[in-house]
Amino acid sequence: MNKVITSVRILTTTHNALDGIMLDMSPSIVVTAAVGLLMLLGLLTFRSASSDNNLPGVPQFKGLPILGAMPMYFKHGMPQLLSKLIAIGDDGISYVNIVNNILVSLHGPAMVREVLAYPEQVASREGDPGRMSWSPFYTLRRLIGHSLFNEVGPEISNHRNVFIREFNTTKSNSEKFDSTAKIATAHANAMTGEVPTDEVDIRSSADNFAIALWGETLYANPNYYLGGRVLSLSEVIITLVGNPWPSVCSEAKVRAKVADVIEKTIGNLVEYEQENPSASLKTIRNLSVMTGGGLTGLLSKFAFELANFNLFGGHHSIGSNITWAFVELDKHPRCLAKLMAEISSVDTTDFTNVNSNMPYLDAIFMEINRLYPTVHATVRVINREIKLDSSKKPVILKPGMLIYLSYLHLHTSPEFWDPDAGVFVPERLLGGYQKDQPFMPFGYGPRSCVGYKFAILAAKQYLVTLLQTHQVDVKDHDHEMRVDTLLETTKPVAVKVTHRS
Ligand code: HEM
Repeated sequence: MNKVITSVRILTTTHNALDGIMLDMSPSIVVTAAVGLLMLLGLLTFRSASSDNNLPGVPQFKGLPILGAMPMYFKHGMPQLLSKLIAIGDDGISYVNIVNNILVSLHGPAMVREVLAYPEQVASREGDPGRMSWSPFYTLRRLIGHSLFNEVGPEISNHRNVFIREFNTTKSNSEKFDSTAKIATAHANAMTGEVPTDEVDIRSSADNFAIALWGETLYANPNYYLGGRVLSLSEVIITLVGNPWPSVCSEAKVRAKVADVIEKTIGNLVEYEQENPSASLKTIRNLSVMTGGGLTGLLSKFAFELANFNLFGGHHSIGSNITWAFVELDKHPRCLAKLMAEISSVDTTDFTNVNSNMPYLDAIFMEINRLYPTVHATVRVINREIKLDSSKKPVILKPGMLIYLSYLHLHTSPEFWDPDAGVFVPERLLGGYQKDQPFMPFGYGPRSCVGYKFAILAAKQYLVTLLQTHQVDVKDHDHEMRVDTLLETTKPVAVKVTHRS
């Protein structure tokens, strides 16, 4: 009780002190503040009016005077704004002001390829370090620290090669095949035991499979997913990255959790290494050694950054591929029957078969990545003035402009595909895609994905394992995509899983 009274007293005292300050404010301070505010408004009006001329001849989405699309951006987020921009940009380009920032949407294939091919001096994910950046990649760095995503400078190709050697080559993936199969089988069996299960959320099951796979591959810890801590942390990170409004409190909490999970995870790895001194090196240790770290103890800077990065990247994308595959196969029994026939025609315990001798399985995952690209859009910030060569009308991109590039639009617009572009038809990608088809689920150019081969192989192994041992029925048939930071389903995907006898 005493405590309550004291707090009330402190509050009251503070209040009174504030009242005093307010009363004591001389009229000159109020006038100065008002004049300052007016000048700021005048400057913003001037800058927003002059920014109207920044892209002459390019369709502009008009928002409110001065604020531009800011209210809409804060209320609905970037994806909705992006879809408005795409709708008005007939020639594949349009823009909007957010106060005095200029957001350009490029949604024609040639322009997207051109910008993604720019070197970092011309455009990068975060923009010049000295300039305030609205890029979501800047938020990502605040949450998980430095990673290859925001790396610029001479080390890039070195670091990209380390990733590629470890995750994007046939040799490295063949070495991971057996342990992936083991994790896939364990997770498939855990879904049912022997009895039918009615309400499995395949989205979190698939994400957890991917987390377990990373746990085993990187740290010898297939139980990395247990307790749901990694999954929920990664979901929070993904949400915050897409937040229009940075939150100092939430970001600080997330950073603390990231540090805690990483400390425990690396602690477990070190324990495992001490208990198994003759075991072969786990992937994170191997990467650490390749980048200057020792055989035991602390990890190299590169390996430590990968551990942090992995809390955000590389598992939800695998889970999302698997989830959409089940949704579409359930809607298209003809495709499921064709896939089942292919599965029974080969020995799926053989790496080469799953990796490269199952063309229908490959076509299914290509079609899933076309229709549901987990990374539905990306951003580049212009660092140096440049003429956009591939636009129909002359366009000069200026430093500070934020360029949004929608992979989802390129993948699903009938303008670039057949009239049935919105429908799941794996046959259209059987044997690969044509050069002129804008298929970029893993990005394009010098900063494209360095881990997609590992991801797709894992997704294929999990789908095949589950289908071989279980019948999976998706309960609802109204699943739609939700365009958020990443591409999500609008609700959990509940499935009924029955063990095949
Ligand atoms: C289906 C799974 C995956 C999808 C759909 C995907 C998609 C993408 C896309 C679209 C980009 C380019 C982003 C941009 O244009 O700004 C990218 C970059 C990247 N991805 Fe993936 N990715 C997947 C799996 C993985 C995995 C498993 C890893 C980890 C080994 C990984 C690591 C990275 C890294 C480090 C980059 C940045 C590369 C750079 O900046 O040089 N990805 N990914």
